[in-house]
Amino acid sequence: MRDRKPFVGGNWKMNTNRTTSAELTRGVVDALAPVTGTDIAIFPPFPYLLAVRSILRDRGSSIQLGAQDCYHKPDGAFTGEVSLDMLKDCGVQTVLAGHSERRHVLGEDDEIVNTKLRAIVEAGLTGVLCIGETLDQRESGHTDPVNQRQLRGGLADVSADALEKIVIAYEPVWAIGTGKTATPEDAQDVHAKLRKLLGQMYNADVAKRTRIIYGGSVKASNAEELFRQPDIDGGLIGGASLKAPEFAGIVKAAAATGSKG
Ligand code: 13P
Repeated sequence: MRDRKPFVGGNWKMNTNRTTSAELTRGVVDALAPVTGTDIAIFPPFPYLLAVRSILRDRGSSIQLGAQDCYHKPDGAFTGEVSLDMLKDCGVQTVLAGHSERRHVLGEDDEIVNTKLRAIVEAGLTGVLCIGETLDQRESGHTDPVNQRQLRGGLADVSADALEKIVIAYEPVWAIGTGKTATPEDAQDVHAKLRKLLGQMYNADVAKRTRIIYGGSVKASNAEELFRQPDIDGGLIGGASLKAPEFAGIVKAAAATGSKG
C-alpha cells in the first residue's frame, strides 16, 4: 500500500507581478533544492505560468506547476476562461478546484466544483479539492455537515481510481488570511472525520492513501505541529507562500514529519 507522501502547495492567489513572480520562483527553488520526500507545487497567476515554468525547467526543479482554477469545457465561446488543454500546454500539472475564494467571492457551488474536478482528472492532471466551513457555520455547529456535503458534492461521480490523482485540502474559511489557525487538535478532528467519510464513500484503501492537507494561516512557526497530526498530510499555503524562506520553512516542516499511512 502506498504511503501518503506530504504535499505542500503555495497558492499565490492574485499576487505578484512579472518581476516578483520570477524572483519568488527562483527563491523557492534555491531554498528547497536539497529537500526531498515531499511533493511541492506552486500556483502562480495565469499570466506568469509560462515564465515560472521556464525557471523551474532551467533549474531542473521537481516543484510542480499549478493553476489556481480552470474551466471544464475544452474550447469555444467562454470569454475570459482558461481550458485544461491550455493549462497542460503551459506545463501545468496540478489544478485547484473549489478554493473558498471561488466559492464565496465568485459564487461557485458544489456542482461546478465537481464538474471542474472531474475535468481536471480526465485531463490527466492532479486536482486539489478545497473544502471548508465559514465562521458562521462553525459557530452554529455545522462544521461537520458542511465539510461532508462539500466532500460528497465535490467527489460526486469520481471513481476510486481517480482518487489517486486527487488531494483534499481542508481550509476553514475563517482561518484563511486572518492569522487565525485552527488548533492542531481541531484540524485533526476534521481531517479524521473526512478520512472516515472517504472510507464510507469508497473503501478503507482509498481512505488510507488519500492525502488530506490543511490550509489557513499556516506559517513556518506553526506548520510542524499541524503536520505532526496523524491525518494532516501537508498544507495549502497562501500569504506565507509569497516569501521564499517562509514557504521553504513550511515545506521543511512537512519533510521532517515524513510520509504517513
Ligand atoms: P493563508 O495561508 O493566507 O491563510 O491562505 C490559505 C489559502 O487560502 C491557501 O489556498
